[in-house]
Amino acid sequence: MTQTKKSIHGEWSSRLAFILAATGSAVGLGNIWKFPYIAGENGGGAFVIVYLLCILLIGLPIMIAETLIGRRGRQSPINTMSDLADEANADPKWHYVGWLGVISGFLILSYYSVVAGWGIAYVFKAFLGGFSGADGTTIKDTFSSLMSSPLQQIFWHSIFMLVTMLVVSRGVAGGLEKAVRFLMPGLFVILMLLVAYAMTTGSYQQGINFLFNPDFSKITGQAVLTAMGHAFFTLSLGIGAIMVYGSYLPNSISITRTSILIAGADTAVALLAGIAIFPIVFANNLEVAAGPGLIFQTLPIAFGNMTGGWLFGILFFVLLVFAALSSSISLIEPAVAWLVENKEIDRKKACVWAGLATWVVGLGTVFSFNVWSDFKIFDRTIFDLLDYLTANLLLPIGGFCVAVFAGWIMKPDDSEHELRSSKPIHYQIWRFLVRYVSPAAVFLVFLNVVGVL
Ligand code: PFF
Repeated sequence: MTQTKKSIHGEWSSRLAFILAATGSAVGLGNIWKFPYIAGENGGGAFVIVYLLCILLIGLPIMIAETLIGRRGRQSPINTMSDLADEANADPKWHYVGWLGVISGFLILSYYSVVAGWGIAYVFKAFLGGFSGADGTTIKDTFSSLMSSPLQQIFWHSIFMLVTMLVVSRGVAGGLEKAVRFLMPGLFVILMLLVAYAMTTGSYQQGINFLFNPDFSKITGQAVLTAMGHAFFTLSLGIGAIMVYGSYLPNSISITRTSILIAGADTAVALLAGIAIFPIVFANNLEVAAGPGLIFQTLPIAFGNMTGGWLFGILFFVLLVFAALSSSISLIEPAVAWLVENKEIDRKKACVWAGLATWVVGLGTVFSFNVWSDFKIFDRTIFDLLDYLTANLLLPIGGFCVAVFAGWIMKPDDSEHELRSSKPIHYQIWRFLVRYVSPAAVFLVFLNVVGVL
């Protein structure tokens, strides 16, 4: 059976609309906030190479798989998976993959919103001239004082959650398409500007060496897991986010070409952020392994000391918050789409409930930076645990299942039909990767981490 359906939630108005929305989902805090700090914590160059390999061999094929599954099913990931399992005469339990994604998206959004809240706080700090002429120590103190205040963080986290749910309640397509259209070019321009500043610090070469000269002795099994997990996180895979966006994709569009474009743009933003940040780190004797505070403790130094830094500082943090917003929307969309389809409640009510629940869980992350900083489970704070559990475990498991489903369970005729506007050779390469390479790689990385290899 190879006929195709339409989604009840609507369709993207064009190929560009889908590309913008999916890029909006992919490019976010993961690229600008997370990639630099995990690259820093894991020794730079070698980690970056492993990460790039994971994008190419695991991320890209799974992104294509998620999009085509979404387009074929035309519903929320949970219902899509159950319909397509039915179509392939497979076990209905496959719909649990959709559930896994809903849970991961919800957990990620809970801490994502807290970090995006830090971004909003920094828009105001930049506006009030807080970075002007500041040195590394002052900027570090600014960040520490935000971290030690649960009330401030709760305030900004609440604002970000409110805005996210407001946008989601109005339906994903309209506003988002417009926002991302200026967001991506703006982000590129400002990152280029920061790279230009980094070139003037005197430590540019040192930063580049750190980021691109591999020292494989620094690579541990955990580092490989982190790089792989981040490939999923940064491309928004393993959650159903890309699947749900794919479900609004018109039939005529080539999935392989759009996926390559999206993954390429996403990688470019992450690398640019790294190239901008590490020279500043070295020039100011800061710690490469500073952790989640890295961008908040480095980039303000650039803004405080460059011409026009006041304006660029404000613009940068505004763009960061918007980039976070276009990602957070896709983190909660699978849950909301499912509530609307199955619980017969309207979009607004679905948003209130999903938003409230996420907000409450987010408080755990807020407290893990202050009052609960000593409270550890498996040696991790709540924030660390949520991050590890989602990015390093749940997303790769979700992605693995998607790869197996697309490569082994779906009938080849059906997957080929969805990729019909791509060249036949692209289909062959994709099918090989998604059947053998991607699932085997995920499996081996897991085996390695549990110590079997
Ligand atoms: N890709 C986003 C980022 O890099 O910031 C995070 C994300 C969004 C992960 C949506 C997963 C997702 F479904």
